[in-house]
Amino acid sequence: MSEQRKRTVIIWGSSRRDGDTAELVQLLQQHVNSDAVCLMNYYIDYYDYEYSNAGDDFIPLMEEVVRYDNIILVSPVYWYSVAAILKTFIDRLSDIIRVRKDLGRRMAGKSLWFATCGASPMPAFEDMDNPFKATAAYLDMKYGSMLYVESTKEGLHEETPELVELYAEEIRYRTELD
Ligand SMILES: Cc1cc2nc3c(=O)[nH]c(=O)nc-3n(C[C@H](O)[C@H](O)[C@H](O)COP(=O)(O)O)c2cc1C
Repeated sequence: MSEQRKRTVIIWGSSRRDGDTAELVQLLQQHVNSDAVCLMNYYIDYYDYEYSNAGDDFIPLMEEVVRYDNIILVSPVYWYSVAAILKTFIDRLSDIIRVRKDLGRRMAGKSLWFATCGASPMPAFEDMDNPFKATAAYLDMKYGSMLYVESTKEGLHEETPELVELYAEEIRYRTELD
């Protein structure tokens, strides 16, 4: 990632690199000019109260992330929630609240979005982004909206490209207003 100020970063995690979430990220990148951060490429440990993880990849990653205006989190639904790798990343945001407060303050004003895929029909997960709405509010960010797409045994549902295009339009429209 270069030094200049960037618009959008997708931060995603899954238990497989070439699965449905990876496909969702690729589709998003076709419509939203963005960089993608695959959390599987980083070593980010669980949150630790003593900050013993200070030397892992979290802070260097966040030093890059704060350069972007918009953050899109992407995860599969695993057990009615996000994948543990994304949850671990979210837990570590405590480090930029408690220790690297300079980075925490730089989250203010950015917009946060959340896209996910799961095997169930949408109504099961319409509140799934509540933690992200609250996280955005806590960090003084603006929350956008959630995209949920259904996956099938053959991959993402055939309607997915259309849904992603609409979502991308919403992202572009709302973030250009800022
Ligand atoms: C451990 C695990 C838990 C899952 N839990 C749910 C669930 O609670 N609800 C659901 O609709 N789908 C669930 N699924 C299905 C996945 O959300 C779905 O297949 C998704 O598209 C997988 O994305 P991936 O290929 O990136 O892992 C689960 C899959 C796995 C592997």
